[in-house]
Amino acid sequence: MNSEFKHVAIIMDGNGRWATQRFRPRVWGHVRGSAVVSDIVQAADDLGVGALTLYAFSTENWRRPNEEVSVLFKLLHKFLLKERARLIANQVSFKVIGDTTRLSPATKKLIADLEAETANFNGLKLTFCFSYGSRMELVRAVNRFMEENPGKELKEEDLDHFLMRPETGDVDLLIRTGGEQRVSNFLLWQIAYAELCFTPTKWPDFTVSEFQRILQSVGQRERRFGGLSPKAVTTENKQAQAIHV
Ligand code: FPP
Repeated sequence: MNSEFKHVAIIMDGNGRWATQRFRPRVWGHVRGSAVVSDIVQAADDLGVGALTLYAFSTENWRRPNEEVSVLFKLLHKFLLKERARLIANQVSFKVIGDTTRLSPATKKLIADLEAETANFNGLKLTFCFSYGSRMELVRAVNRFMEENPGKELKEEDLDHFLMRPETGDVDLLIRTGGEQRVSNFLLWQIAYAELCFTPTKWPDFTVSEFQRILQSVGQRERRFGGLSPKAVTTENKQAQAIHV
């Protein structure tokens, strides 16, 4: 299958509740969730998705207990060690966006090395949003634009260029697992015309087959980007001629 979704973004929610329901600590949900990340990255690549952007840690997640934050940081580190070779073999172009300053020097180095090594690959564009918030990204973009273009009026296309990973473009499909129906400060600019899919499945239970089903079923929705379908235009033209305003 060659997915028609050039850019899929996922809010991987429900880890904590998944673990609590099983009488395990919340962090167990993140551990299980990180295995799902590996499966979905591979599936996105196999299914011909162009770009996959994953919300791994939000600016708001800093409010969580230190122990939970530290597990999330360790899982990122482990993911990079475990998946590095596979990402390179599959020509995946990897990038982390967000504020990575508080990651350990070792994790920062792993990220920098992998980003440099995969920068020119033309396979799946995989982005991890870590300590990321869309408002922060937008404010940063506007400030950078003003620094580089003093006195110039900002246009929509200018802003795109100053986002943290401009080459991934607009999001075509946003999936949120875990049953909540909100966007939580994630890619607010990029999801302007995205199809939205909210599934009750908690992230550790999310499977490649559900991912595939979502891509297939949402792929059948008609996307009009504020316009009309060609069929509706023909019908509308005929009917409009009969109305005199
Ligand atoms: C939301 O679940 C999920 C997160 C805050 C982190 C997502 C992280 C992973 C999927 C694992 C990390 C993996 C890598 C590779 C970085 P939640 O804890 O808010 O769930 P809840 O709503 O049930 O509490």
